[in-house]
Amino acid sequence: MTTIVSQNYLPNSSGAYISRFKDVRALSESITLRLSAEDQQVQSMPDVSPTKWHLAHTSWFFETFILRPQVPDYSVFDESFGFLFNSYYEAVGPRQLRAERGLITRPTLDEVHAYRAHVDAAMVGFFENADPAQIEDLCYLIELGMHHEQQHQELILMDVKHVLSRNPFGPSYRKKEPATVYATHELQWFTVPGGIYTIGHDDDGQFAFDNEGPVHEVVLGDFAIASRCVTNGEYQAFIDDDGYKRSEFWHSDGWARISAECWQAPLYWQQVEDGDWVEFTYAGLCPLYHDAPVCHVSFYEAAAYAAWAGKRLPTEAEWEVAANYFNVAQRPGAGANQLASGYLRPIPAGEVDPEAPKGMLGDVWEWTQSAYSPYPGFRAAPGAVGEYNGKFMVNQMVLRGASCVTPPGHARVTYRNFFYPHQRWAFAGFRLTE
Ligand SMILES: [Fe+2]
Repeated sequence: MTTIVSQNYLPNSSGAYISRFKDVRALSESITLRLSAEDQQVQSMPDVSPTKWHLAHTSWFFETFILRPQVPDYSVFDESFGFLFNSYYEAVGPRQLRAERGLITRPTLDEVHAYRAHVDAAMVGFFENADPAQIEDLCYLIELGMHHEQQHQELILMDVKHVLSRNPFGPSYRKKEPATVYATHELQWFTVPGGIYTIGHDDDGQFAFDNEGPVHEVVLGDFAIASRCVTNGEYQAFIDDDGYKRSEFWHSDGWARISAECWQAPLYWQQVEDGDWVEFTYAGLCPLYHDAPVCHVSFYEAAAYAAWAGKRLPTEAEWEVAANYFNVAQRPGAGANQLASGYLRPIPAGEVDPEAPKGMLGDVWEWTQSAYSPYPGFRAAPGAVGEYNGKFMVNQMVLRGASCVTPPGHARVTYRNFFYPHQRWAFAGFRLTE
């Protein structure tokens, strides 16, 4: 089971900052303990970054945005790391090509761990010695660094799964999958009356990324949202009905993609000799959980399934309004299947909750039909940190919720995740709406 560390709160003292900072940093390292140095070097496709790169990049973030500008006597660990581990910040300077991060064989993994220790010590020193007013001023930036690291924890796990999947013998991240203990329930619908609703982060003192605001009103018609996500078994029926061969269900771009790349099933599914499907997991190839949410599908596949089923995907406003309307964050078991559960894969939803949809804050990120655009009134912050989200608000789709590899304290009802519509190495599934 994965170690549970970190809590979801904003520290109010340097001691609390140190504790939370250490917890977040330790989790990044604990999820890599099962990996060899060679595992941590590989870049299996351009979207994937080596684990070693993630470990260094998250340290570079604290070094670049807090230590260098705020600690006058800070000693930079290695000036070349600015080029190697800057991800996409134009304002900071030139950088290694994203698709060539796997070519960075030096520094070694040991040297990257030494870099992390250097940054950790400097950050703790900063928390201990800085003027409280200075820390107060930097509160958002410090939190941003920690939530940024949590995002990379999920990326490490996504990327490692892809790396291991490309080995011809499908090695395991862990020895054994946990036994599945649930079935799921017959799909039910939860109706939300149309009206004017408010969505977005309301600046209540809790951390949120800038893309979650400003709060604004939306006008919705009546709609109903599914009690759970679409399952592997249901998705298999779509495949069996020649869903991947019938263009009428697909966006033009989606049809072009599945045709060009010969997609016939979700990423990581394989059909074995007797016709059954198995999937690659952190324990290697395993039977599908028939009743678990389907995972590792693209937006194109989610939308095609919805068209085949005579339904649609929710808009992100519908998803958030439904989550609030049914108070899903406060329901028993809310967010149960995130990283801390140790399942590391989606699991069946179990019995219906008569009061609310299940699984909206765990198992799989849920594709919506909303393009990733700025909310009304959104302004990116000035300077390099303003590049964090705003410049990606084109050509991508929003996903909501959280997944089975989302770190503790990182999920929110207002959270806006986003990927390109063809990407499917994230733990992404979907829930229908009508
Ligand atoms: Fe990053």
